[in-house]
Parts: sequence; C-alpha cells; structure tokens
Amino acid sequence: MNIFKEHPLRTLISIGISALFCATAFAQDDVQTFTPVQIAAGAKLFSDNCAICHGPKMVDPGGGFFDLRTFPPKQRPRFMHSVSFGKNSMPPWRSLLSQEQIGNLFAYVVAGEKK
Ligand code: HEC
Repeated sequence: MNIFKEHPLRTLISIGISALFCATAFAQDDVQTFTPVQIAAGAKLFSDNCAICHGPKMVDPGGGFFDLRTFPPKQRPRFMHSVSFGKNSMPPWRSLLSQEQIGNLFAYVVAGEKK
C-alpha cells in the first residue's frame, strides 16, 4: 500500500505548489502590462531627473552608480520604496514626483531600453 498517495498532506502540497505557480504567473503579468504611454512618460522623467547620475538611457558614464538595467523586474515595491524615500546617497523623490510618475519610471526601467 502506498501511504503517501493517500496522505492528506499530498493534496495540501499540490495546492501549495499550484498557488506558487499562480503567484509567479501574476507577478509576470504585472511586469508585462506597461503601456507605451507609461514607458514614454518614464523615459522623459528619467532623462530629466535620473540620467544625471544613472546615465543617459541608464548607461552609466563611469560614475559607478547603480546600473538600473540590472534592476530586478519583479521587485516593483523595492523600486517604489527606494525611489520615493531615497537610498544612501540617492535623494528621495516623493516630494517631487507622484507615485504614478515613479510607476512610469519603473515601466521605463524594466521595459524601456533593450537589455
Ligand atoms: C544624485 C544622484 C542620483 C540621482 C539623481 C538618482 N539616483 Fe538612483 N541611485 C543613486 C545612488 C548613489 C544609488 C545607489 C544607492 C545605494 O544602494 O547605496 C541609486 C540607486 C537607485 C536604485 C536602486 C535602489 C535599490 O533598491 O537598490 C534605483 C531603483 C534608482 N536609483 C532609481 C532612480 C531613479 C528612478 C531616479 C530618478 C527619479 C534616480 N535614481 C536618481 C543616485 C542617484
């Protein structure tokens, strides 16, 4: 007799695994849903506010700043937080940019330039 086959945990484990797949699928959807308008707005905001440190089109001209092309696309909350509140020598942007604008910047960083 195969005990594991009948074991209630087996069902729980498969539900758990399916939930994980769903969560991943949703996270990826979230990343894909940028409109060209958001990306274009983000590109403009980027060249006006961010390029001075992070470099035009996110290519660091040699200042040693964080390479935004490597920012993990699934970490939107981290992006929103770091940009809103600043991080070490990066200033906070929340009094200058709205959450919508910072969201557009995220769209640009994730999808705006060829990787
Ligand atoms: C005055 C220079 C400067 C400007 C302007 C600047 N940044 Fe930064 N940024 C930095 C530095 C320095 C870091 C590295 C912070 C650290 O990890 O110590 C950084 C890091 C980041 C990170 C990574 C944060 C993390 O969670 O690791 C993001 C995202 C980011 N910047 C986005 C932006 C955006 C978007 C703008 C424009 C609104 C911007 N930065 C403007 C200097 C700047």
